[in-house]
Amino acid sequence: MTDATKVTRTCLIVDDEPRLRQVLRRLMESDGFDCAEAASGAEAVEMLMQRETMIVLTDLRMPGMDGIGLLQAVRRHSPDTAVVLITGVSDIDVALSCLAQGAMDYLTKPFTLEEVRARVRQSLEKRRLVIENREHQLRLEERVAEKARRLEQLFLGTLQSFSEALEVKDPYTRGHSVRVSQYSAAIARELKLDPAGVRDIEIGGNLHDIGKIGVREAVLNKPGPLTPEEYEHIMTHPMVGWRILSTMLGDVPTALNIVRSHHERVDGRGMPDGLLGTAIPLEARIAAVADSFDAMTSGRVYRRGGRMSMEATLAEFQRCSGTQFDPEIVAAFAAAVRKGAIALPQAAPGTSELMSVGTSPRNMPTPPHSAEIRQRAG
Ligand SMILES: [Fe+2]
Repeated sequence: MTDATKVTRTCLIVDDEPRLRQVLRRLMESDGFDCAEAASGAEAVEMLMQRETMIVLTDLRMPGMDGIGLLQAVRRHSPDTAVVLITGVSDIDVALSCLAQGAMDYLTKPFTLEEVRARVRQSLEKRRLVIENREHQLRLEERVAEKARRLEQLFLGTLQSFSEALEVKDPYTRGHSVRVSQYSAAIARELKLDPAGVRDIEIGGNLHDIGKIGVREAVLNKPGPLTPEEYEHIMTHPMVGWRILSTMLGDVPTALNIVRSHHERVDGRGMPDGLLGTAIPLEARIAAVADSFDAMTSGRVYRRGGRMSMEATLAEFQRCSGTQFDPEIVAAFAAAVRKGAIALPQAAPGTSELMSVGTSPRNMPTPPHSAEIRQRAG
């Protein structure tokens, strides 16, 4: 931005009478101004385009573009230039209306040189205050925007700290949460959700299992099948996570919904609320598909045949569409896969845990060699 308060003291005198221009020029130059002259409004506009000008002294009545036309052009093209109109006594009403249009002041003919000096001084002082005020406003807006950015960083950093706390306890979640976040975002984009909605879904995906902080490590990291008590304990994590984050994520209900409802099923047999169909928030239906996809395809999963292929995963989603998963979300997921927005993750070493989709979590536990893959609170 040009600092208009630091330009040379420049003045443009506009009058069709050369004699009057000369009088004003002498006066302004004696006060240290670098002066230019124009014999018409049109000529003045051209000159204003070529150099920054602090103040224009212009006659009101001129052939062609008059003082009002010039004033309007200055407001449009050089708003930091002060305009003082020179009028006859009979034009005072017009001059007053020009003040409303942005002129700084006016001089009535005949005028004394002291009057000119006083009007010019006042006009430049007003101009300085207007510019300073505007720059102050801009600085203020920049500071507010900066504070907002820092708050956002602090907010996201705090959420990241939560994720890291869980990673310490359950190293598997490190990649899992990030992948669920990415898959959820890809499905959300396929569903044409707006960028802010996608961003909130990413946050929710990253935090969806945060409630596992409250799950006993012996249960969380148990290699074999869970007892009913253990399963019930691990399945407290959506509500625990919701309670932990409900204050912090009060402004991001989308993320909070994912934390609470990512284990709901559209047939109403999910947890923790047993919500049915579209009573489950859209974002949670999205995260449920993303979560299960990662459960089926990540390194943590093993079945008798190893990690599931994309084809097998798609078939499994189709099989569970309308019971565990929302058919619309399954279709969006399949479309995202076709477009390459979702792909199989890299295989991770040391896989040792059974994750699955396909049956009600309420039926847990079942033997690990069950013909059906099933979900283990992922
Ligand atoms: Fe979960």
